[in-house]
Parts: sequence; structure tokens; C-alpha cells
Amino acid sequence: MTFFPHPDRYQQMEYRRSGRSGLKLPAISLGLWHNFGDSTRVDNSRELLRHAFDRGITHFDLANNYGPPPGSAEENFGRILREDFRAFRDELIISTKAGYTMWDGPYGDWGSRKYLVSSLDQSLKRMGLEYVDIFYHHRPDPETPLEETMLALDHLVRQGKALYAAISNYPAELAAQAIAILRDLGTPCLIHQPRYSLFERTPEKGLLQTLGDNGVGCIAFSPLAGGVLTDRYLQGIPEDSRAASGSKFLREEQLTDEKMSKVRKLHALAQQRDQKLAQMALAWVLRDDRVTSVLIGASKTAQIDDAVNMLAQRSFSEEELTAIEAAVK
Ligand SMILES: NC(=O)c1ccc[n+]([C@@H]2O[C@H](COP(=O)([O-])OP(=O)(O)OC[C@H]3O[C@@H](n4cnc5c(N)ncnc54)[C@H](OP(=O)(O)O)[C@@H]3O)[C@@H](O)[C@H]2O)c1
Repeated sequence: MTFFPHPDRYQQMEYRRSGRSGLKLPAISLGLWHNFGDSTRVDNSRELLRHAFDRGITHFDLANNYGPPPGSAEENFGRILREDFRAFRDELIISTKAGYTMWDGPYGDWGSRKYLVSSLDQSLKRMGLEYVDIFYHHRPDPETPLEETMLALDHLVRQGKALYAAISNYPAELAAQAIAILRDLGTPCLIHQPRYSLFERTPEKGLLQTLGDNGVGCIAFSPLAGGVLTDRYLQGIPEDSRAASGSKFLREEQLTDEKMSKVRKLHALAQQRDQKLAQMALAWVLRDDRVTSVLIGASKTAQIDDAVNMLAQRSFSEEELTAIEAAVK
């Protein structure tokens, strides 16, 4: 069925400027790491994308290796894009990345110019795109000179295969170096993508400061800690959840009594705010102006609704922030 997006979609979302760039991103972005590979029903993936766009989510985040199998999320996304979103390409911000293992041999991993250039070509083919909006180096490479990796990003932007260059998982000091190199090359770093949530606080130890000082945006991935910072696991492990899916990224053993006790305390605080825990956790990440967007995953459209509906209740009192800190200690 032809897709006619909701006419009021842009009234439902807040758009925040990425650092000091010209680009605004939706406060909530959707990642395709899970639920878009060949093992998921494509009609569900399609529904998620349509629903997200209907609710004002203009940014979809991918990587070369998303699946499983690696590459299949880009392929499935490309198909849905052709079938449903053809008329809306200029209303979308599509990102992809290279940096983790993608193909055999020495050229399918890490941060060489050889890997980044060929990987983006492959991603564009899989998605059927002429360019992506944002291209990331996915993780630092301890062996390749940083200059080579950043030159590769600059080269791809100049070729028109990406509109903006970005980095992910770079610690503060290395991020500062990468940002400086890109600035000198004339291709400013648009955004950094770190893991940031109530449970993962590393970006507060210098990274957010560096990004703020340099006018670089920040898009926080796994802001719900993969689903732990929600009501999903309060009564055990549902069959259709990530923890039950065999994902190596969220195993049952990680849901320890200690962690779940924190989740319960946070859940009670969210209830006092008349909010779901997922909503409080997202609002908490967005409380910092240096954070441009929270990058969520979703297996159901109702989860996207939870995230967007959160925007109506974003502020925290000092007492609430103190109680939240005490709960995660
Ligand atoms: N740069 C990197 O290295 C990197 C690494 C990881 C992720 N990412 C990006 O970040 C994106 C998001 O990562 P993530 O999926 O880990 O994010 P997340 O938002 O922390 O977790 C998403 C999961 O939480 C559950 N969930 C979401 N909303 C919910 C709600 N309202 N109520 C109950 N449960 C809810 C769902 O789990 P169920 O499936 O159980 O329903 C969903 O799949 C990825 O798709 C990817 O684009 C980047």
C-alpha cells in the first residue's frame, strides 16, 4: 500500500541542532541495529519505519554490519526506502558506518582508507542510494594513523558520497584529535555517537565537554541500555524480548539482582512522574543540551510512541535528579 505520511508529523517532534552545524536532528532517532535483519519480518520493519516517520523521526541510523547477517539491515532498509520513501529522500537523514569486522581479509575491518572507501561503496549499493547523509568511523583503530582515517572521511565527503563526517566510540582525548584533524581538512566533524544512558556515564568524564567546546553534536546510542531501562524485564524475561533472543549484546546473566534493584527504584521514580521508565530514561539523557538526539531501537511501534510522547514531559526538578542519582549508585 502506498505510504502517505502523517501531515502533522513535524509538529510532533523537536529538532535540535547538531553542535554548531547547519543540521538539525530529531530529538529521537531510530537505529536499525536490531529488528531489521533477515531474521525479522520485513512487514514489521516496514511498519516501524513508517510509524517513526509519521511521528516526526527523520533520522535512521545504520552500519555496514547491521543484520544479521551483516549487510542485511542496509539491504532491507534499501528495499523499504525504494518502495515507501522514494518521494521523501530529502526529508530523511540516513547514516551508516564502517569500523567493525565486515568482510574477510585485512581490508574489511578497522580504519584504513581502503576499508572505509570500499565499505561505503558497498553500503550505498545495498541501500540503493547515491549518498548517505552521515558517514561514521565506527570505532577507533589503534594501528591506523588517525590522519589516514580522517582523510578517508574527508575524501568521501568531497566525493559527495556522504554529506557529513562523524565518529563513534572515540574516547574524549582521541575524539578531540579527530575533530581537530577534520577541522583542518575543512570537513568539520558533525557528530559523535557514544553509548550514553543512566547506566553508562563515561561521556560525562570529558567527552561531552570536548564536544560542547568544539561545537560537535552528540547522538547517544542505547539510551535504554538495550531495553533494561524500561519496564520490559520487571516481571521476568518476555519471550519476544532482546534478552530472550540469544543476542550476545544483552544476555540473561546481565540482568543481575543488583541491576534489577536499580531498575525497580528508577521505575518507582518514573511512576511518581506519571511516566514510563523508558520515557524518564530518555528525557534524562536529553536533559543535557550538548546531546542532540537519543538513538533508540524498537521492536514495536508502541515503543516509538513511548519515546515521542516523552517529549511532552521532559523537565526534572533538582529533587528528582538527586533521587535518580541515588537510585543508580
Ligand atoms: N555506534 C555504535 O557502536 C552502536 C552500538 C549499539 C547501538 N548503536 C545504535 O543505537 C541504536 C539503538 O541501540 P539499542 O537498540 O541498544 O537502543 P535502546 O533504545 O537502548 O534499546 C532498544 C530496545 O529497548 C526496548 N525498548 C525500546 N523502547 C521501549 C519501551 N518504550 N518499552 C519497553 N522496551 C522498550 C526494545 O527491546 P525489545 O527488542 O526487547 O522489545 C528495543 O529493541 C542501534 O539501532 C544503533 O543504530 C550504535
